[in-house]
Amino acid sequence: MNPTPAVCPAWLAKLFHEAGGVVPFRQYMEWALFHSEHGYYGAGQVRIGPGGDFATSPSLGPDFAELLAQQLIELLQSLPGDGRRLSLVEVGPGEGDLAADLLQAIHELAPELMQRLELVLVERSSALRSRQQQRLAKTQINEASMPTLRWCSLEELAAAPVQGVVLAHELLDALPVDRVVLEAGCLQLQGVELLSSGCLCWCLLPLPEPLAEAIAASDCCLPPADAPEGWCSEWHGCYGAWLQSLSAAIDQGVLLVIDYALEAERYYSSRRSEGTLMAYGGGAAGLDPLAAPGGQDLTSHVCIESLNAAAASQGWQLLDQRRQGEMMLALGLAERLHSLQQLPPQQLPEALQRREALLRLVDPAGLGEFRWLLYGRGVGTTSLSLRAAPDI
Ligand SMILES: C[S@@+](CC[C@H](N)C(=O)[O-])C[C@H]1O[C@@H](n2cnc3c(N)ncnc32)[C@H](O)[C@@H]1O
Repeated sequence: MNPTPAVCPAWLAKLFHEAGGVVPFRQYMEWALFHSEHGYYGAGQVRIGPGGDFATSPSLGPDFAELLAQQLIELLQSLPGDGRRLSLVEVGPGEGDLAADLLQAIHELAPELMQRLELVLVERSSALRSRQQQRLAKTQINEASMPTLRWCSLEELAAAPVQGVVLAHELLDALPVDRVVLEAGCLQLQGVELLSSGCLCWCLLPLPEPLAEAIAASDCCLPPADAPEGWCSEWHGCYGAWLQSLSAAIDQGVLLVIDYALEAERYYSSRRSEGTLMAYGGGAAGLDPLAAPGGQDLTSHVCIESLNAAAASQGWQLLDQRRQGEMMLALGLAERLHSLQQLPPQQLPEALQRREALLRLVDPAGLGEFRWLLYGRGVGTTSLSLRAAPDI
């Protein structure tokens, strides 16, 4: 996985020296992504969008937010209507495109909701918070209709927990994960070592007892029975802590996770022998995860069963799940495609660009395979669900 040794930058070498020269991969991922001065997200090096490091659904244009807004309005309106303020909480808003386009769409589709609504953005990176503030400042909503807008941490929200809808779009794939490797028939922890040459390389560490116990107690079968020597995958101990903070911040509502996700059986298959860890940068995928720490994204898929188990243990029940392609059709993507044909000839370039973006949102080999996972907390066994696609 690491054919040419990756040179460690000075800021990271200092952290490695302080930590004794070897750290678990999860610690490396934490530094590479979230170091406040040099991390990919922490320092704001990330560029999301078609011309950037990678494109996400909201970065392709406002169509995604306009479709999603219909689902969020249905969910917000289904929450117990005791007149309390409703919060739309987006965790990990990136460039702020989704939040800005959602506000605009909700303003147009359900103006009456704006009176009861507040938008809360939860962002770990202060550099990205500034970019989001600039992006939100450009919305075309007049001041009188603008809902309250605030940035805060989940810990700050916990001081006065809110009711509403939480959106986590491509958030969980950025949480630092542990990696495990099958070596001589036993799972070991994957580590990263700083060599005396100043290069980074992979290494193996003993699997900590709590991690071994968590894996044994889970519904996931890893390693799979027929896994080859060297088989490697991710373990998502990170979900529990994040959901615990979320539970303290939200006393009643739903959580919509939209992300790359796989069932445990497919995630921990013997054929997926290198896991799902990917490095992205400059529009390219499949880069060396140890190269350019802080200069590229590191991401791994969500394991659905692991997330369901962590969610249930923190009071979040799975209410529904669908693929993005199906959700886009249920929310009117086909009608949008059709309406592009009615645009006047002078808008042809715009129509072609939007057509391409809409098709990407449902591409079964790409964004169309994303999962929408809906969880509820404090909403009982209500009939809250995702909108179903029309019969074709
Ligand atoms: C892959 S980007 C996705 C951005 C955006 N949601 C989109 O889809 O375009 C991940 C985002 O989550 C943020 N993030 C990662 N971990 C976080 C955490 N624990 N709390 C809040 N934000 C976090 C990152 O800084 C970044 O804004």
